[in-house]
Amino acid sequence: MSIDERLQDGMRAHQKHDFATAIACYKAVLSEDPNHPDAMSLVGLLLAQHGRMDDALEVLEEALRINPDNPYALVNFGNVLMSKRRFDEAFKAYTRANELDPANEEAWANSGACLRNCGRIEDAISVLTAARQSFPKSVTVLHNLAVCHMCLGEHDKAADCLETCLRVGGYQRNPSPMWHITMLPKLGRPELASKVLGYHLSQHPEDEAGQFLLAVLEGRTLPRATDAYIREHFDDFSESFDEVLARIDYQAPQLIVDLVRRLHPDDTKFANVLDLGCGTGLCGIELRPLAERLSGVDLSAGMLRMASGRDLYDSLQEGELVAHLLSLPAGSLDLATCADTLCYFGPLDDFMTAAAHALKPGARLVATVEHLRDEGDDPHRMLLSGRFSHRESHIRDSAQAAGLDVVTIEYPRLRYELGEEIHGLLFCVERPTASA
Ligand SMILES: C[S@@+](CC[C@H](N)C(=O)[O-])C[C@H]1O[C@@H](n2cnc3c(N)ncnc32)[C@H](O)[C@@H]1O
Repeated sequence: MSIDERLQDGMRAHQKHDFATAIACYKAVLSEDPNHPDAMSLVGLLLAQHGRMDDALEVLEEALRINPDNPYALVNFGNVLMSKRRFDEAFKAYTRANELDPANEEAWANSGACLRNCGRIEDAISVLTAARQSFPKSVTVLHNLAVCHMCLGEHDKAADCLETCLRVGGYQRNPSPMWHITMLPKLGRPELASKVLGYHLSQHPEDEAGQFLLAVLEGRTLPRATDAYIREHFDDFSESFDEVLARIDYQAPQLIVDLVRRLHPDDTKFANVLDLGCGTGLCGIELRPLAERLSGVDLSAGMLRMASGRDLYDSLQEGELVAHLLSLPAGSLDLATCADTLCYFGPLDDFMTAAAHALKPGARLVATVEHLRDEGDDPHRMLLSGRFSHRESHIRDSAQAAGLDVVTIEYPRLRYELGEEIHGLLFCVERPTASA
């Protein structure tokens, strides 16, 4: 097999997310030609997709040293620099890629995203609007433009872009269909979202994630977001999660770890800590110094890949968190955390029972939920986003029913959404020592 054929095989496997085959093919190419810049660039891309940004950067720098005019390597390099928030350098890499290959849609789309991340939203809109002329069917360009308009509170323009994403990409050829479908009703445009989802489900009735979205759009309440929906949504979101969350001033991990520190001011080290719904590991960054052993559990393989790239956790498990808690030996955890994950549950009774099982007597769970604060008397409510909000009384009732004591409940701002503050409940519950 020629080098080119091997490279093509690798790229095909890479596109199908068969990473093991892809890396084997790229390695085979590099064993014949250690300086093959395309293979190096693809290895860099693969490392970045696994959250190993420092290694990716090193490989891509080397690929660009050998061939500085490879637009694909430049785009991958820009992407890694962007994830490291080195926006000026990323912008230079994209601009050079655009000069070398003006037909490289990703370079245009990402240079717009880069400007947006530097806070140069108007410049980003100019670049992306120009790119839209050249690539009217680029869902990525339209998606990035929509996010810029949202940043400026231009909700109508954002909705126009999102609708165009759905028109040109439908469901199947759209990188973030679930996000577009949940955003449009919030922006006052539910019709096209329902139509595209309805058509998709008529072709793929077995799609459980899509079925969950349909329930959301139809206002049918379910006990929690389905595993299939969580997996698909967060696998899609994993690579941009940290960047997007930083932009909306996401506070949950910091709030949780600050509360742990306030409750344990004596620099306690916890023997066995579990981060529930650990995502890309944002809690892990702050928890690591407090834990002898730090584990994470999450349903999304994509999010776990990013977490594993941070090298913070002693163990990462792919799985559903309530089932995971119940599978642990009784009384084995010294601390559990759960940041911005219970918003995918309606009733919290099963969760609290599972936490009570896994916590040691005297051990604590610290978590956030979105605060349901209006006059109603429903204990929790499913929102148009597919998330749930909870009343304080439900936290207290479900904890008490599971035999847990409420140590404290606080009322912080968690983040912004469409320019509005999202209010949360930050709570700590404890398994009483008397139940030992
Ligand atoms: C909004 S993210 C928060 C991630 C992380 N805790 C943080 O604060 O950055 C929610 C995470 O919870 C995970 N998740 C949601 N429901 C879950 C469940 N029932 N079991 C395990 N993981 C779940 C998702 O896959 C996602 O990674």
